[in-house]
Amino acid sequence: MSSYLIDVSNFLLRWLHVIAAIAWIGESIYFVMLDNGLKKPKAEEDRQKGVFGEMWAVHGGGFYHNQKYATAPDKLPDDLHWSFWKAYTTWLSGFALFIILYMANPSFYLVNPNSPWEWAANLSGWQANVVALLFLLGGWVVYNEMCKRLSPNMERDGLLSVGVAVMMVLVAYLSVHIFSGRAAFLLTGAVMATAMSANVFFWIIPGQRRMVKAMKAGETPNPLDGKRGKQRSVHNTYFTLPVVLLMISNHYSFAYTNDWAWVIMTLLIFAGAVIRQYFVLMHSGQHKPAYPVAGVVLILAAFAVGSPALAPATSSAPAQAGGDTASQESGTLASDAVPASPLAQVHAIMQTRCVQCHAAQPAHAGFSAPPAGVVLETEAQVEQQQASIQQVVASGYMPLGNLTQMTDDERATIATWGN
Ligand code: HEC
Repeated sequence: MSSYLIDVSNFLLRWLHVIAAIAWIGESIYFVMLDNGLKKPKAEEDRQKGVFGEMWAVHGGGFYHNQKYATAPDKLPDDLHWSFWKAYTTWLSGFALFIILYMANPSFYLVNPNSPWEWAANLSGWQANVVALLFLLGGWVVYNEMCKRLSPNMERDGLLSVGVAVMMVLVAYLSVHIFSGRAAFLLTGAVMATAMSANVFFWIIPGQRRMVKAMKAGETPNPLDGKRGKQRSVHNTYFTLPVVLLMISNHYSFAYTNDWAWVIMTLLIFAGAVIRQYFVLMHSGQHKPAYPVAGVVLILAAFAVGSPALAPATSSAPAQAGGDTASQESGTLASDAVPASPLAQVHAIMQTRCVQCHAAQPAHAGFSAPPAGVVLETEAQVEQQQASIQQVVASGYMPLGNLTQMTDDERATIATWGN
């Protein structure tokens, strides 16, 4: 029952999370488009009023006339529309999902038993939770300090962008080395997403509040508040595509079960940012096809790195070297008289190492339904899933946390099945 409740909360939170994120990112993309698409106001009286740019638009059968003021209108209306709940809801629902999906089961989902770093491979569950939280917090602290130190007056934003890019490569590298594949992708996305929400919470909204307060008091608002809000909101724009990509990458094990997962992740992050750049420029009337081309090249490079064709041969291949005698040596899987077919051997391994979880009705208490919808009970089911079984086993991702203690020989049997 409790795992059923977790499933249901997962379902509802994910729904909320995706809807809030669509609303937030949609609005943010809309305002970047609006800002970049503004034209000089046509009417003299608008210019007199301090209007700096305007946009006419048609949408949903109506005509809209947006105007942006250079600093502020003479009189600010009381019913100003603010945007922040979408950002906060996205972060809060995402963090809640992270708690019920990852932090509730950290030794399965966070710990990377294959980490080249011994301390990381040996983290206990609660330690992994603490490290994950520090990772998110640390990401924000480093990013925020970088913004404050590298470009405090928004005069060195180019240098700052380079700094943020370098930081993301480092985050990708560290997360893949510390956390299990899926969690690493998710946490890298979450570092950016946390920076985005924290930008809204700690800088953009407070800055806007100070500006509004000053205007209402008849004072001139501090222009740095406006510029800083813009700086952070520009960062948010370039984070959006990479974040969404990393959040959905969870479904694609080729990306995160690869030895070069951090390179794949980095290439995809940069691809997202340069593709976004194309649209940012497009809204200001510039068409620079070099950006989408660069994005596509980066994506192709990521796919090339992830390609099974480029993966090094499985190191455990020698188990097959014995040829005919291999099955007799391992003894347990095949009878002496009739050597079992490779499929039958693999099926037998699934029976001992996988069906506790991957059954229509899993015996494992943590699951009320087969995880990822993968059922491995019959030979036909096993055969149908060959490619994904080989991939998740070769990468060490399955059996999850090697809970069922699969042996290297068994991994070798699966790796060479069908070759
Ligand atoms: C302790 C429970 C457990 C065991 C044992 C286990 N799995 Fe999984 N498996 C999971 C969970 C949970 C997921 C879903 C995780 C995810 O979405 O990445 C999963 C996902 C998968 C997927 C889908 C991966 C994807 O990205 O779509 C495959 C394929 C798979 N397992 C194969 C296996 C094989 C083969 C074995 C045995 C060698 C095995 N699993 C053993 C829990 C388990």
